[in-house]
Amino acid sequence: MQDKNIAVGITGGIAAYKACELVSRLKKMGANVKVAMTRNATEFVTPLTLQSLSGNPVVTGMFDRPAQWEIEHIALAKWAQVFVVVPTTANLIGKLAAGIADDFLSTTLLATRAPIYLAPAMNTQMYTHPVVQANMRKLREMGVRFIEPATGRLACGDVGPGKLAEIDAIVAALEEAFQRVRDYADCRILITAGPTREAIDPVRYLSNHSSGKMGYALAQAAVRRGGAVTLVSGPVALEPPAGLEELVRVESADDMYQAVIQRYPDQDIVIMAAAVADYKPKILSGQKIKKTAEPLVIEFVKNIDILAELGKSKTHQKLIGFAAETENLEEYARTKLIRKNLDLIVANDLTQEGAGFGVDTNIVKLIDRSGKTEDVPLMSKADLGDLVLDRIKQLS
Ligand SMILES: Cc1cc2nc3c(=O)[nH]c(=O)nc-3n(C[C@H](O)[C@H](O)[C@H](O)COP(=O)(O)O)c2cc1C
Repeated sequence: MQDKNIAVGITGGIAAYKACELVSRLKKMGANVKVAMTRNATEFVTPLTLQSLSGNPVVTGMFDRPAQWEIEHIALAKWAQVFVVVPTTANLIGKLAAGIADDFLSTTLLATRAPIYLAPAMNTQMYTHPVVQANMRKLREMGVRFIEPATGRLACGDVGPGKLAEIDAIVAALEEAFQRVRDYADCRILITAGPTREAIDPVRYLSNHSSGKMGYALAQAAVRRGGAVTLVSGPVALEPPAGLEELVRVESADDMYQAVIQRYPDQDIVIMAAAVADYKPKILSGQKIKKTAEPLVIEFVKNIDILAELGKSKTHQKLIGFAAETENLEEYARTKLIRKNLDLIVANDLTQEGAGFGVDTNIVKLIDRSGKTEDVPLMSKADLGDLVLDRIKQLS
């Protein structure tokens, strides 16, 4: 943390007093800390306390004029290497998700390109409210990171999730954030995501349940960490991350193969998170197949195995595959890793709740070439995207 610039936002929740401990800890670790508080936060803890702890003036209003900063929100937005909001109210989460910038803190959060970490704290009913959860999902998809609240007895007397994460956990998340700041700069990464569609006739296709969320989370994390990211995406209903080098939209496995193989020689890392169809209809009917009294028989042939082809022609690239299985997960994944000449495989057990298609979380095993296996517990796909990138960095 020595000499790192950390902006700490504080919003109007009971846990605001805990931000004092955070600021004090960060200062003791050698960080430069600047604090921005919402007006409501000042009802809970005084700017003078935070000013004394941080050693810097504290901004509370859009039109305050501290001597040191010029156009304050832009200056702070640029100065920050990491931005953390402790505690984060439901209100701030909602405003950021909607792009509302009606005070100093929300305006600065829109203006910064530093990684944003939010540590929510609120009553359990508020935290589990569908609109708060939807706002958090939206922000996660945009690359905002959450330091998840703990479950426990809250100030209001309720017991449940919504308690501010421990200060130790917040400090650990910030230390991790600094390890990840631009650690993929100068690295060319191609990521595939989503399902493919194998046309049967002009109106029908064979596909699968992949939502693309894992691949998009990886792309989001890789962009945030400074990578030059090409995202090759099958048809999904997700917003692509801002800052991609290139977005290539494809439909079929053949399209995806072409898009990937052309770009392969220029890449340092290729992560195949797409759920590519193994089969396609042998014959693509030019006209819509009409309903008849007879059963419809369609013959399927194998698609090109993109990952295996990449494995065969690998030169300098690190190649990462995904395995989604409903049985014998580790054995199948290990076999796939060897057979397809991969460096790392991320294995999803589709039978576990919270893992696999469609959901925002995943439970995986990571297996590398040396045979090392890591069991990764349930975590958000956003967090898993970062963890997978951490492990790719550690590959020899
Ligand atoms: C005593 C008290 C405690 C509060 N605690 C919380 C809280 O922990 N989390 C939260 O989201 N809102 C909490 N609120 C409500 C927020 O203060 C309110 O939504 C406010 O508009 C937030 O403003 P801000 O996000 O600009 O700081 C609390 C309100 C009061 C009066």
